[in-house]
Amino acid sequence: PSLSSPSLSSPLLSSPVLSSPSSPRSLTPLLSLPPSPLPPLQLTTELLTRGGKDIAFSDYSPLWKTHRRLVHNSFTLFGEGTTKLQSIVLEAVEALCCDLQASRGQAIDPDPPLMRAVTNVVCTLVFSSTYQHGDPELTTVMEYNDGIVQTIARGGLVDIFPWLRFLPNQTLTTLTECIAIRDQLLSKKLEEHKVSLIGGEPRDLLDALLQGQTRIKHNQGSGVRGQGLGVEQEEEGISDDHVLMTAAEVFGAGVETTSTTLLWVLAFLLHHPQVQERVQKELDEVVGCGRSPDVSDRTHLPYLDSVINEVMRIRPVSPILIPHTALTHSSIGGHSICKGSRVLVNMWAIHHDPEHWDQPEDFRPERFLDDKGLRFTPSCFMPFGAGPRVCVGESLARLELFLFVSGLLQRFSFSPAPGVSLPDLEGRLGVVLQPLRYTLTVTPRPGWEGVKGEREGEGVWWKE
Ligand code: HEM
Repeated sequence: PSLSSPSLSSPLLSSPVLSSPSSPRSLTPLLSLPPSPLPPLQLTTELLTRGGKDIAFSDYSPLWKTHRRLVHNSFTLFGEGTTKLQSIVLEAVEALCCDLQASRGQAIDPDPPLMRAVTNVVCTLVFSSTYQHGDPELTTVMEYNDGIVQTIARGGLVDIFPWLRFLPNQTLTTLTECIAIRDQLLSKKLEEHKVSLIGGEPRDLLDALLQGQTRIKHNQGSGVRGQGLGVEQEEEGISDDHVLMTAAEVFGAGVETTSTTLLWVLAFLLHHPQVQERVQKELDEVVGCGRSPDVSDRTHLPYLDSVINEVMRIRPVSPILIPHTALTHSSIGGHSICKGSRVLVNMWAIHHDPEHWDQPEDFRPERFLDDKGLRFTPSCFMPFGAGPRVCVGESLARLELFLFVSGLLQRFSFSPAPGVSLPDLEGRLGVVLQPLRYTLTVTPRPGWEGVKGEREGEGVWWKE
């Protein structure tokens, strides 16, 4: 796909697009520009975020900084650096393996089981619910998420002509309905958490956010102005809406991106069976088949890591990031940027720039290894963005990608379904850049053939 093509929605085309930095360093000031939608806030974003009470679409402000710091701290407190997050993901990997095993060699579409597994990780992370296959609440979460993603991907004329909201509009109706279901479910979880919240270690992200909200309120009450909020914003503080919209955003920003990256990984492995074999060989040597790979193995699996990186380079799920707005007059690479301009970062072009990448169209994981076979990260590689607005979920995403890819390739080999063509690698740009639906066959690897895929009771799998 060519991202310089005019197939991108029209309002974006009037914005400066940075697609070929003379030096990757010149990106740093650009990426520190805050993302923010064109004023007035686009209607769909406004509906999704209760008027910018989230992180990604909120304008830069001291309150936004406090909010982002709170989310970051909550992640640290709850998950990053603790084994809790890893256990949550490993549980989802097990359930996914069980689903795949149940295919018994028949061609399957990997999208639904992957989506289910990643959604379950986020549900457990955010409000401690882990669902079994077919649980109506999980189905609800997946349906409203999908509804939101599909309606946004369709693009809304209503964002260009806001008065259209007063006319019958099916897309807007569906979006509003999905948001209402989302908010009802999340509000219920929030209220339950408020009632059962006790001090000490947070059980999940909602607990961590509520504890942080109380702490900030307390600091404000005692006159601590450390957060740097203005008087007006201090009064507003981190409201329940902020907590709710943060929870919603973890779904919005964390599910589609991660599951799509995993779909790209499998699609490229089907095209490059020798890469799949090399990853499996590395896994066999480092982990074997007596236990699951865990995060402590990551340093010893540089090739596996390089495959994940190469997939994120060649098919960045967020090819033009989130639009940024210049807060001041500035200049980048000799181009002046007026205050208030919306700037798009063409990550696709940066990840395919022949000046920085040898044969950029080729899938070559080795480019992320040095001549000793150790990890090497080129400076033009930025799948999570950079600067103050870098992806807040990067650590979680990296953990998930590592545990899912290593867990799957330890146990299974993936091959094209017989008689079916290989997946299309062009992709389609919706909310994220995703592969077209495809099918594959899952074969247990030697040593894993005896692992049954049926569930006994609820989601159990076992080894004979
Ligand atoms: C493979 C998975 C993921 C990829 C490739 C990815 C990529 C990105 C990118 C490129 C940005 C925009 C940076 C910019 O515009 O400068 C972003 C922002 C963001 N991401 Fe992710 N992301 C992933 C997973 C996640 C997860 C799991 C979460 C949540 C837990 C998350 C939460 C966010 C948030 C809240 C922002 C907005 C940050 C801000 O505006 O300050 N992402 N992500």
